[in-house]
Amino acid sequence: MCGIVAIVGKSPVAPLIVDALKRLEYRGYDSAGVATVEHGKLGRRRAEGKLVNLDRRLKDEPLGGTIGIGHTRWATHGVPNETNAHPHFSDGVAIVHNGIIENFAELRDELRRDGYEFTSQTDTEVVAHLVARELAQGAAPVDAAHNALKRLQGAFALAIMFSDDEDLIVGARNGPPLAVGHGEGEMFLGSDAIALAPFTNSITYLEDGDWVVVRSNAMQIFDMDGNKVERRRQQSLSTSFMVDKGNRRHFMEKEIHEQPEVIGHTLAHYLDFTKGAARPFDLPFDFASLDRIAISACGTAYLAGLIGKYWFERYARLPVDIDVASEFRYREIPISKQSAAFFVSQSGETADTLASLRYCRKAGVPIGAIVNVRESTIARESDIVLPTLAGPEIGVASTKAFTCQLSVLAALAVRAASARGTISPDQERAMVRSLSEVPRFATQALKLEGQIEQVSRELSHYRHVLYLGRDTNYPLAMEGALKLKEISYIHAEGYAAGELKHGPIALIDEQMPVIVIAPHDRIFEKTVSNMQEVAARGGKIILITDRKGAANATVKTLETIILPDVPEFVAPIVYALPIQMLAYYTAVFMGTDVDQPRNLAKSVTVE
Ligand code: G6P
Repeated sequence: MCGIVAIVGKSPVAPLIVDALKRLEYRGYDSAGVATVEHGKLGRRRAEGKLVNLDRRLKDEPLGGTIGIGHTRWATHGVPNETNAHPHFSDGVAIVHNGIIENFAELRDELRRDGYEFTSQTDTEVVAHLVARELAQGAAPVDAAHNALKRLQGAFALAIMFSDDEDLIVGARNGPPLAVGHGEGEMFLGSDAIALAPFTNSITYLEDGDWVVVRSNAMQIFDMDGNKVERRRQQSLSTSFMVDKGNRRHFMEKEIHEQPEVIGHTLAHYLDFTKGAARPFDLPFDFASLDRIAISACGTAYLAGLIGKYWFERYARLPVDIDVASEFRYREIPISKQSAAFFVSQSGETADTLASLRYCRKAGVPIGAIVNVRESTIARESDIVLPTLAGPEIGVASTKAFTCQLSVLAALAVRAASARGTISPDQERAMVRSLSEVPRFATQALKLEGQIEQVSRELSHYRHVLYLGRDTNYPLAMEGALKLKEISYIHAEGYAAGELKHGPIALIDEQMPVIVIAPHDRIFEKTVSNMQEVAARGGKIILITDRKGAANATVKTLETIILPDVPEFVAPIVYALPIQMLAYYTAVFMGTDVDQPRNLAKSVTVE
């Protein structure tokens, strides 16, 4: 999703801004631009596509100036071309924007009537003209920005710069995040602390409804009524070392391989392996007295939550209501007073997930945030932060964050089951032991990379793929399909194996590979029947199972991928790895942009 960087500095800022934008690349974007002020004049370079194109433009036509704003754009209104790329200008005003101005059509009509001409199809351009109109009517820059902001409806983070003041940037936040970075005689604005990490670790996060006047030596935050407000200045934990692929081709590959380690860190945070018990840290509720829990999330995080539902319900006998956040937020779900709500999010900034959280906040129930970015908005608005210790995830397609989300949910399910007395101390010890072995199982799963690479070569020749699974392997089948379509652009669907005969079986022919996720568990035989239905219709089966499953499958497969024998409880965490590798290598064979697939964003700050 769009990224913002702004600097009121002391040396030429254009290269610094592009460097910071590179650190926001992981959010996903399709064009980029930078503007500066030099000797009272605005200058701008923009380019469609990746930042290398912008870099090239700047090399051919450098931009001077010690104040500037930059942007990576993920298109919402208007195609991703140079004209729609930010910054947008209007009579001495330059603007970058992340989010959606919902009343832009009405504002555009009004501005057109006043003679303002629009050069782009974006919603953003109205903001530039609104500020310019205020200036033309005699307002000083800060007042012009404030008056314009008051007219805006929707979700936005903005940075506004003026040709007449080379020591002023106005920032604003209503929805998407924006942080002020404090330097020595220079100040920064950025969509997150990672972007600003090379410049400063001293950060102030704006809250919704805040706007800020930033100058090289000072900053002041206001609310929409123009009252001064104080926000805490904090040391960010973000560091600049993370934008490094090591010796891997892609961040996604590196992140897949980091999983044994980060899963181990995450589990150790929640479980006492020595005692064989869930750690008794403070929670803002007691699992024993809950009658249900609500979970909401988007994308891969939602599928992690769905697996969590199976665990909470089976082991803790605790019913779970779960929905994708874009539905959850609007469908007026009744929230039990005896419940707790969990929001799962890698970025901690996903707009729909945040809105669901606020819905539950109004319902007055305790809120837990399972997030990877601890300084995120979702973390800050929750009663308890339950961190995934995956480290920064840069590949747009989530991998290690997913398995760490599963690790947190599994540990919480153990804690809930223990608190509710639905498992015995012996069972708790056995479950904790199973979890403690996951990093080792994950390491063994990674050793299948060579075989999976070969299977992926075959998969890359097809246009459609079906994934099947039962129980926790059903959400995992959906995750496998999501991963494949996200990065290889091959159409894929994940189905409950038992639902096959209610529709998708009509699709089965020689051109439809079917990936079956089926460890030898309680219901393995049921899945074998479904595989037989596929085989009878010429479908090509790729079976992901264990030794016993491979021996008992009794169907011809195109390929059988054999994972280590793992306890049923932890299987979805371990089986996630071959699923991710299949998607990864298929995408590599397809030649797609694995880390930044087309049209996708890492941090989805609009609904
Ligand atoms: C985007 C990403 C997905 C992610 C989803 C939710 O669609 O591309 O990988 O699962 O957002 O993001 P979150 O940061 O809330 O986990």
